[in-house]
Order: sequence, then C-alpha cells, then structure tokens
Amino acid sequence: MPRNEALVNYFKTRRSVGMAFLSEPGPSVAELDEILTIGTRVPDHGKFVPWRLVIIEGDARRQAGERLAEIVRRNRPGIDEASLEIERRQFLPAPLTIAVIFSPKPNTKAPELEQLLSAGNVCLNLVHAAFALGYAATWVTRWFAFDPVAQEMLGARGGERFVGFIHIGTPTAIPEDRERPALADVVMRWAR
Ligand SMILES: Cc1cc2nc3c(=O)[nH]c(=O)nc-3n(C[C@H](O)[C@H](O)[C@H](O)COP(=O)(O)O)c2cc1C
Repeated sequence: MPRNEALVNYFKTRRSVGMAFLSEPGPSVAELDEILTIGTRVPDHGKFVPWRLVIIEGDARRQAGERLAEIVRRNRPGIDEASLEIERRQFLPAPLTIAVIFSPKPNTKAPELEQLLSAGNVCLNLVHAAFALGYAATWVTRWFAFDPVAQEMLGARGGERFVGFIHIGTPTAIPEDRERPALADVVMRWAR
C-alpha cells in the first residue's frame, strides 16, 4: 500500500472540535450511512459485535435533553432553571450525536476488556469518519453515561452502558492544538 500523504497529514493534525463549536449543516442521510459504515468497521475479537449505536438527531435532540433535565430535577428538587437549561442543551448545538453503547457478550474467547476496547474503537472510528467526510466531531461521555436511569432512558438495556457520545457537525471554530505527550515519556524499547 503506497504512502497516503493526505491520510498521514490528517492523523498528524486531527483535533476534536468542542461541542459548542459544532453547528449545522450535519451529515446527509447518505453521509450518515457512510459514517456509520466506517465507524463500525473495527477490530472485534471473536466477532461478538459488543456494541450498538443510538442516533440522536433532529427534534430528538431537544426531547432527549428535556428527559435529562427531568431526571436531574427529580434527583435535585429545587435546582435552578439555568442548570436545567444546560441539561436541555446536552445534545445541542451539534446537528447529530451518535451514542455508542458497550454491549458485552458473555463468552470464553474475548474477555470483557477486549470487547470494551472494540466499543472504544467504534467511538474513535466515528470521529475519523466524520472528519473524512468534511465534518468535525468530538467524543464525550458526561454524567448521563454513568447514571443508570439516564442510560436506560437513552436506550441502554440490562448489562449495557454508554461509552461515548460522538457529536458531529460543521465546525464554527478551529481550536488550537493541545499539548501532546512527548514520545520519550511514553515509549520505550524493550530490552532484557
Ligand atoms: C472516553 C472519553 C470520554 C470523554 N468525555 C469527555 C467529557 O465528558 N467532556 C469533555 O469535555 N471531554 C471529554 N473527553 C475528551 C474529549 O474527547 C476531548 O475533546 C479530546 O480529548 C480532545 O482530544 P483530541 O484533540 O486528540 O481530539 C472524553 C474523551 C474520552 C476518550
């Protein structure tokens, strides 16, 4: 396979674009299909497909946010309106969010850790797919990835949990790069 300069350059410069800076337009139906196809093309030891995806788009973004606000209000009666508004906007302004559910499959071949890593790969592959199609993306979790009531409301079933919410849209700002770890700090050559 020949060196692909565009791809190399992409991997050397890719940067997440924060949720607040993702706006319309989002991917078309055909583009979303392509993003999902690329996103789910990941290593998967034993082919157990230990993940599922939930698409949150259009009006569902506001509805899901409203349901999150209701959960927060139940947990913290008397919470102020500004805090509830933050919850209502959890899936805004990005036009599209793809939620990745880790759905472990009991078996003796692929330990749960390997299945979890496969689900993590789906998350990052979705990010790469979004950028490849000319959009920007970011991978976040937030409190509702860890709250059982919110997880169920968003589509997780027994034994499943969310590992990422991939927000996708057109960037309204290009962020500065962040500091990356020095290779010397994280890489060693094995020797005995
Ligand atoms: C599993 C996971 C969960 C994350 N959750 C959040 C989050 O809830 N809120 C947040 O601001 N960033 C979160 N991040 C970090 C964002 O993805 C962040 O923008 C990213 O680390 C930027 O890295 P990049 O510049 O290499 O794309 C999370 C990252 C990962 C891997």
